[in-house]
Amino acid sequence: MELYLPELKGMAKGIRNKRNVYEGYQRGWELQFGGLKEKVLGDPLYKEAFAVAQDRTIMGEENRMNIFLLLRFFLDKIPFGHIVEYGSYRGGSAIFMAYVAQRLYPGIKVFALDSFEGMPATDKNADAHNAGDFSDVDMDKLQARLDELKLDNLVLVKGFFENTNEDVMAQAGKISLAHIDCVIAPAVKYSYEGVKPFMVDGGYIVFDDATVSSCIGATEVVEDLLIRRDGLNSEQIWPHFVFRAFNNRA
Ligand SMILES: C[S@@+](CC[C@H](N)C(=O)[O-])C[C@H]1O[C@@H](n2cnc3c(N)ncnc32)[C@H](O)[C@@H]1O
Repeated sequence: MELYLPELKGMAKGIRNKRNVYEGYQRGWELQFGGLKEKVLGDPLYKEAFAVAQDRTIMGEENRMNIFLLLRFFLDKIPFGHIVEYGSYRGGSAIFMAYVAQRLYPGIKVFALDSFEGMPATDKNADAHNAGDFSDVDMDKLQARLDELKLDNLVLVKGFFENTNEDVMAQAGKISLAHIDCVIAPAVKYSYEGVKPFMVDGGYIVFDDATVSSCIGATEVVEDLLIRRDGLNSEQIWPHFVFRAFNNRA
């Protein structure tokens, strides 16, 4: 069965309040309450990409499906840019995105940033997680897996974002999709601020954790910076927050 997105009758299309409501409904509503989930599960490219990534990711299924839809149906509607992930842990979601991107968008790289040694110190006023969480990563095995899969479009960047992001942005130049999956408030804040100037017009900023019960610090960053300060409205709140970057528009 061919994968396609349903048309929503009578709904206005286009950008309004810095997001495309129509497209948000097409993905979120159809995934949550329509039949889109079953169709994605049956899609050959989704199945292949999930098969190679599944033993290395803790990302939720619907989140992965939504990213798949963004890559499959929406990335080619916006200007060219690379993909960056803040928080890759054992590499699963980065492998998933790189596998799909390699087949749909030759030339797009996925930069996967992580300490690959777990969380830095956390502030217990906002974040429930602790220093050292997610430290069970073997970088050599991860790199060997990338070599085995011939994912030469996936670049692992080891270190705290604060020390690595500047070089990555200089190398990438333009970003079309930022996947922010780093759980704690300072890391989420740094990622957003660090990638924002490099986002292409209409680029996607996806927050994996900001609507998760264990990550209220991440929620607070979205509320403070994106909603209050930058005046953004989200294009989706389910299965994760999706915002669009319009740096040069009023
Ligand atoms: C939830 S995990 C990522 C999950 C992953 N995307 C997956 O597919 O399973 C969060 C990651 O963020 C990383 N992290 C958090 N703060 C960081 C920072 N300031 N610099 C580098 N990595 C950081 C942690 O090391 C951890 O691996």
